[in-house]
Amino acid sequence: MKNLLVTGGCGFIGSNLIPLLLESGAYRIRVLDNESLGKRAFLGDCDIEFIHGDLRDRETVRHAVQGMDAVVHLAADTRVMDSIENPEYNFNVNVVGSFNLLMEMRAAGVNRIVNASTGGAILGEVDPPVHEGMVPHPIAPYGAAKLSVEGYCSAFAGAYGMKAVSLRFSNVYGPRSFHKGSVVAAFLKRVLKGQPLTVYGDGSQQRDYVYVDDLCGGIRLGIEQDVSGVFQLGTGIPTSVNQLIDAIRAVVGRTHDVEVNYEDFRAGEILHTYCNIEKARQELGYDPQTRLQDGLVPVWQWFLDNADRMAA
Ligand SMILES: NC(=O)c1ccc[n+]([C@@H]2O[C@H](COP(=O)([O-])OP(=O)(O)OC[C@H]3O[C@@H](n4cnc5c(N)ncnc54)[C@H](O)[C@@H]3O)[C@@H](O)[C@H]2O)c1
Repeated sequence: MKNLLVTGGCGFIGSNLIPLLLESGAYRIRVLDNESLGKRAFLGDCDIEFIHGDLRDRETVRHAVQGMDAVVHLAADTRVMDSIENPEYNFNVNVVGSFNLLMEMRAAGVNRIVNASTGGAILGEVDPPVHEGMVPHPIAPYGAAKLSVEGYCSAFAGAYGMKAVSLRFSNVYGPRSFHKGSVVAAFLKRVLKGQPLTVYGDGSQQRDYVYVDDLCGGIRLGIEQDVSGVFQLGTGIPTSVNQLIDAIRAVVGRTHDVEVNYEDFRAGEILHTYCNIEKARQELGYDPQTRLQDGLVPVWQWFLDNADRMAA
């Protein structure tokens, strides 16, 4: 059994990943999370060791990495728009916090990290499909921070022999995403409240929506395969916001109306992005299978079952 530290394990992706890893029987899991965005409660009765603590605190991180075989690094300030408002906070959590982690891993002899990174926010406005060979042009501080952490992961692999994988997630959707501002979660919350959806722009902007279980399969491959480097994880399929709304209508339509308001584009937002996942397919064996219209069904059911959380 491997000892695995999951930073940010209480968040959306962590709370989907951890049950899958525990189910495999291959991992003993410790979580480090300051519960600023996720909550320990999101992990229900998962059998984990929990450290309530902050990545920016070196002592806490030192304690958290002791005895670990590998780290899945999900903890971050994940709010892109907030990073534009307050770039310094984002820098401190995402860059300084990640640097602390790498330094303490090195000191403790923990030699393997899977780092959660991002495609669109790092690469900026480029012609899709985006891939690992493109020159980055972040257009928000969140993307700049993620790019910086990819750089440090690469440097710790090059200089100290760490196995460091940075996985560039596209737009992830799934259950346990109530606290997220990402588009699928935001739309489903508004549908539940009977409010119209807000689309910034004309709805033609494209994204690559990947179901969280498929993504978690990719994270597990990142832990288990003997690789380092950067990999795009998405589906490779572009979907416009208008197509997403059609897919949502098809899932929720029997019981809920879906109205849409179109507003101006927002600064810092990318128009079109989806990714080429060939490198992940070839080198990791990553193989996402869930179609958007199928993935939305359990997500909507989860939102319906957890509608009472909206009051909280
Ligand atoms: N969800 C997506 O679509 C998406 C896309 C691209 C990249 N990512 C990346 O994947 C990772 C996980 O994303 P998520 O959607 O689960 O986000 P999330 O916000 O749900 O989870 C992040 C977790 O990190 C914790 N955290 C924040 N600051 C911390 C700190 N200083 N110390 C300790 N813990 C801290 C939060 O409490 C939260 O539980 C993030 O690194 C994010 O940038 C996510």
